[in-house]
Amino acid sequence: MTEERNAEDYVDQGVAGLEEPQPMYAALRETAPVFRSPQPVVLSGLADIEMALQHTELFSSNMDAVDLGNLRPLIPLQVDPPEHAKCRRILDPLFTPREMARREPEVTKLVNEVIDAFADRGQCDFHAEFAVPLPCTVFLQLLGLPLEDLETFLVWKDGVIRPEGGPFTFEERHAATAPVALMIYAYFDRAIDDHIANPRDDVLSALIAAEFKEGGGALSREELLDICFLFLIAGLDTVTDSLDFFFFFVYLARHPEHRRQLIKQPDVLPSAIEELLRWETPVPGVARVAMEDVEVAGCPISKGERVSPLLGAANTDPAAFPDPDVVDFRRNPNRHRAFGGGPHRCLGSHLDRMELRVALREFHRRITDYDIPAGTQLSYTGGLRSVESLPLTFPVAR
Ligand code: HEM
Repeated sequence: MTEERNAEDYVDQGVAGLEEPQPMYAALRETAPVFRSPQPVVLSGLADIEMALQHTELFSSNMDAVDLGNLRPLIPLQVDPPEHAKCRRILDPLFTPREMARREPEVTKLVNEVIDAFADRGQCDFHAEFAVPLPCTVFLQLLGLPLEDLETFLVWKDGVIRPEGGPFTFEERHAATAPVALMIYAYFDRAIDDHIANPRDDVLSALIAAEFKEGGGALSREELLDICFLFLIAGLDTVTDSLDFFFFFVYLARHPEHRRQLIKQPDVLPSAIEELLRWETPVPGVARVAMEDVEVAGCPISKGERVSPLLGAANTDPAAFPDPDVVDFRRNPNRHRAFGGGPHRCLGSHLDRMELRVALREFHRRITDYDIPAGTQLSYTGGLRSVESLPLTFPVAR
């Protein structure tokens, strides 16, 4: 699979823009496990990736690692231990499997309403009509924000995640995203006022009510804003991209036998989701900055250099996954790193799993057979792995 190409051959394409990044992961692992791309240094060896994720004192995810136009560190991603643990102590209880199960009925209702909009049409743009609005609406519900704000949110999240006019230097990116970031802060400032005046059963009200500081004390207004901003970044595109890639594009549309397995053996759904998270790795790599001069696998990295542990390479490493190129919906064990690792491991993993489970279950209950129309050229977006549009046709149930 990888013998004819080496790491350099793939670099211009970028990870996110690749239809099938797995051969590139293998080429990097085998020929350049510490690869100095123009920016950043890419780590693709499993042990090096684990080390970088665990050792936040060497590789930090602070504001120098990634810039989304934010004024202060995003909480908890851009806060290093030991402060970080204090943030997670307050956030983790809001995202437990039990809390997410409590939200499952409303997500099931929402998924069905989204499908109702196109089920009788026999075709849809799966990306625009399902994969984008679903996680955004779940996010608005979870935080207790008006559903009418959906369109505004979509514009803002694209404005900070993939600003128009790139490629940018680190500084240019800040200038392009900062005005959008100010609008996001202003929006959440008003939302916090509203939730203080009218507390309800949602995550924002719970955060406002939470005791954070040792010995008691609430989160400050700025801390609340810095958490909300990160939620907006962390919880939307990640789920959209998983839906695009899982459902139709790379896997289920092109591998009908896997799709049939999901329909005939519904018990396989949870482990199928884990396997697709491993294989597709919606967040291919994470961002870090070196905190001191270090050496990784014999390669010097200077203090201040940006470093990207490539989660997709870890997830296809034969050292951890026998037959890594085989997609086995019953793979067990499957300790994939699609949610990262170390202290910053994804806070929303149980929310994500619940959303994906409900979406896959309800969609296949209602639409069992679907295709991407012949001749469709799918176009990939940068940043996270995603497609710009995903046309789909299916028989209409009579
Ligand atoms: C398929 C969906 C998702 C994937 C693949 C994913 C992946 C990740 C990854 C790889 C990280 C680690 C980042 C790093 O180390 O730099 C992360 C962190 C995080 N994710 Fe997710 N995520 C998903 C969904 C969500 C959702 C729905 C939320 C909603 C709240 C969320 C909230 C967060 C937060 C707050 C962090 C930072 C955690 C910390 O720094 O302690 N994620 N996610």
